[in-house]
Amino acid sequence: KLPPEVTIVEVGPRDGLQNERTPISAESKIGFVNRLAAAGLRRIEAVSFVSPKWVPQMADGAAVMAGVDRPPGVRYMALVPNLKGLEGAVSAKVHEVAVFASASETFSQRNINCTIAESIERFRPACAAAASAGLPVRGYISCALGCPFEGAVPPAAVGRVAEALLAVGCAEICVADTVGAGTPLRAAAALRAAAAAGVPLLRLAAHFHDTYGQALANILTALQMGVTTVDAAAAGLGGCPYAPGATGNVATEDVVYLLEGCGVRTGVDLERLLDASDYICGALGGGRLPAAGAARALL
Ligand code: HMG
Ligand code: MG
Repeated sequence: KLPPEVTIVEVGPRDGLQNERTPISAESKIGFVNRLAAAGLRRIEAVSFVSPKWVPQMADGAAVMAGVDRPPGVRYMALVPNLKGLEGAVSAKVHEVAVFASASETFSQRNINCTIAESIERFRPACAAAASAGLPVRGYISCALGCPFEGAVPPAAVGRVAEALLAVGCAEICVADTVGAGTPLRAAAALRAAAAAGVPLLRLAAHFHDTYGQALANILTALQMGVTTVDAAAAGLGGCPYAPGATGNVATEDVVYLLEGCGVRTGVDLERLLDASDYICGALGGGRLPAAGAARALL
């Protein structure tokens, strides 16, 4: 059984672009975000406020947020690793923020230079400041289905991080397959572990990279379990600079095609979404085509 309606969180402007080597202008990022909003996406992770030394591509988050259209009903999100990032997000007038922890110690060190426990302690003041500013916080759990350095990650580790993120005030928990190697049974086990740690299904989100082509199957499994929020990136862009071997997020085009084809409402206009993908692929240059079956079939 599938839910009648699903919220797609579009992460293309953040996860999708953060790993691109060629500099992309703020103007192109703004054009991309505006087209995504015009396509009907209602939650867009547009920027991150992280160290520009660690992720240079995301250094212009303030300029991007200053330039985007703000149509009614569209909520912009920023990824933040600490209080400094949260302050940047508040100044940029986003509607939501996301902190990011890992279920694997090695990935935590490589990505944010601290242990899992230290990351939770950094999120605590950031979440408190977000609450004062009236911003809901999403908490990602990276490496929930496997780690590029440690391999298998036990569901119990996902449960422990979910509990810790809830305790510091996250309103939504996003189970992330950073590597994109997970299969439906592992996805279900990780989501079940987060739910068992106390996350209501309606506050769980699924974020699947598509390295091994498993993301749509994993999404279908999540929806059958009662999850109603899924992440995707237009054109299948994406990847984390600190996750070697991982490729892009599941393509938003493919998710929309799957869901609408199953009678699940997304509110997204596929034609307009293709326009957004086409626009950003053009800005990336090099004859880039969307990494999305539905986009290639329909273009
Ligand atoms: P650090 O070097 O340990 O931190 O980095 P620090 O506190 O010593 O600060 C070092 C410098 O960064 C200082 O500047 C700080 O001011 C500055 P300096 O004195 O050297 O000039 N700094 C900042 N600047 C701007 N914004 C900030 C900020 N914080 C410190 N918020 C840190 C620790 C966490 C900052 C660093 O490791 C970092 O920024 N990491 C981010 C890595 C990242 O963005 N990865 C990609 C996103 S995660 C992802 O893609 C996974 C996800 O999609 C889910 C999934 O698929 O798994 C979410
Ligand atoms: Mg990701």
